[in-house]
Amino acid sequence: MGTKEGCAEGDCGACTVALGRVRGGRVHYEPVNACILLLGQVDGAELVTVEDLAAGGELHPVQSAMVDAHGSQCGFCTPGIVMSLFTLYHASERPLSREAVNDALAGNLCRCTGYRPIVDAALQACGEQPRDAFSTNAEHNVQGLTALADGQDVFIGDETRFFAAPASEDSLADLYARHPDATLVAGCTDVGLWITKGMAEIEKVIWLGRAAGLDVIEEASDTLGIGATVTHAEAHPSLARIDPDLGELMRRFGSWQVRASGTVGGNIANGSPIGDLAPALIALSSALELRHGDATRTIPLENFFIAYRRQDRVPGEFVRRIVVPKLKGHEVFRAYKISKRFDEDISAAMGAFKFTLDGRRIAEARVAFGGMGATPKRALETEQALAGLSLDDPSSWGEAMAAIARDYQPLDDHRSSAAYRATVARNLVFKALSETASGETRATRIIGQRDALQAAE
Ligand SMILES: Cc1cc2nc3c(=O)[nH]c(=O)nc-3n(C[C@H](O)[C@H](O)[C@H](O)COP(=O)(O)OP(=O)(O)OC[C@H]3O[C@@H](n4cnc5c(N)ncnc54)[C@H](O)[C@@H]3O)c2cc1C
Ligand code: FES
Ligand code: FES
Repeated sequence: MGTKEGCAEGDCGACTVALGRVRGGRVHYEPVNACILLLGQVDGAELVTVEDLAAGGELHPVQSAMVDAHGSQCGFCTPGIVMSLFTLYHASERPLSREAVNDALAGNLCRCTGYRPIVDAALQACGEQPRDAFSTNAEHNVQGLTALADGQDVFIGDETRFFAAPASEDSLADLYARHPDATLVAGCTDVGLWITKGMAEIEKVIWLGRAAGLDVIEEASDTLGIGATVTHAEAHPSLARIDPDLGELMRRFGSWQVRASGTVGGNIANGSPIGDLAPALIALSSALELRHGDATRTIPLENFFIAYRRQDRVPGEFVRRIVVPKLKGHEVFRAYKISKRFDEDISAAMGAFKFTLDGRRIAEARVAFGGMGATPKRALETEQALAGLSLDDPSSWGEAMAAIARDYQPLDDHRSSAAYRATVARNLVFKALSETASGETRATRIIGQRDALQAAE
């Protein structure tokens, strides 16, 4: 009864609950938006709601801190905030920074208290070693959850209407080939909204979260293989190691709740023209592995997006893996997410650039944008105009900036006008060039401005 529903679309965090799963021999708690979570997705996990926190008549440390810091007024957001703090309490790096707290709370809106007391409560409670009923019972919980992992396929319903959770990639391939009309669900951060906002009734659901092997990250010396059901939260550190801009992109991807549920495969497979990962991974020359029945094929990621919401994927075929080449010594990467809010917002435009340098000259460029057309797409004319440019001669950059207008017919919608997108894309070409020329990003980023202000204070 404590869990609240506000927006019913994953934006406000009032419905936040925690899911605990065993990884590396211990239970990891992550916040999720219950409003867009299917019951079957809780399979095999420990579900913790706000009612579970107080023990033996004592408030949980995060609840006490919220009381001490006056972190609640009307209280509607409070159960969700307390659950996000509970996951931070169990997950946080120590010492805990204010910035880490802000990141952790980006998916929780409060409309009356104001965030300062809530952040204070987080800093008070979450910087210490966890000491609560969950840490005391940790071993027992690991045993209980491990016993649930029986590796069996789950199938509830009949051939016309079912919820299925295949336990292996083979049984997924077999089931989906037999039911190509089924809806695949990974993190449900898109599909959930079809249900809560579109009132869709989905007859056949195949949840991918139980399929062993699809959730694996494979690090090789020159590539990163990301299984389709790897969540954004799991992929974040590996992507950040390829380039800090990818790390920053993932930090700003939705909220912690969305990153804990949403998957890399779901972000690609949904074919959204404004998805964040596709442009970045296209600029990095990534490849996409698809599987249908026993047959697997690999295509360049950019070829997957054919037209608005139409992908190169036959009925019964699914995304199994994305292979991302790592940057070589003479390659430079830049990615820019343009959105109205810094945190927890969908892009108006998202531009990604990979320059192959020959000294101070651009030998080759790969540029891809989202939000600039019906699909995420490479900017071939701009790439051509960038090749051969000197980083030391800004007066020669104009043609490459102008070329972007020939590459795209931008979207015109409530996020931004076509004219705004066209201007911003042109400016991002300049920004990528000037940042590469100077090797400096502080002066051109909000983060850099903030650091400068703090230093001045
Ligand atoms: C509050 C909120 C904030 C968000 N912020 C961002 C953001 O900042 N940037 C951004 O890009 N997106 C954002 N999203 C959109 C969404 O979270 C992402 O696109 C996410 O990656 C989708 O992954 P999922 O696993 O949840 O997909 P699901 O909802 O499970 O599935 C999405 C689609 O992909 C299909 N699918 C899933 N997996 C596969 C597979 N392996 N093979 C074939 N088809 C598959 C499904 O059938 C469905 O059509 C946001 C969403 C919400 C609700
Ligand atoms: S009710 Fe707003 S995120 Fe779930
Ligand atoms: S206390 Fe009222 S919305 Fe946060």
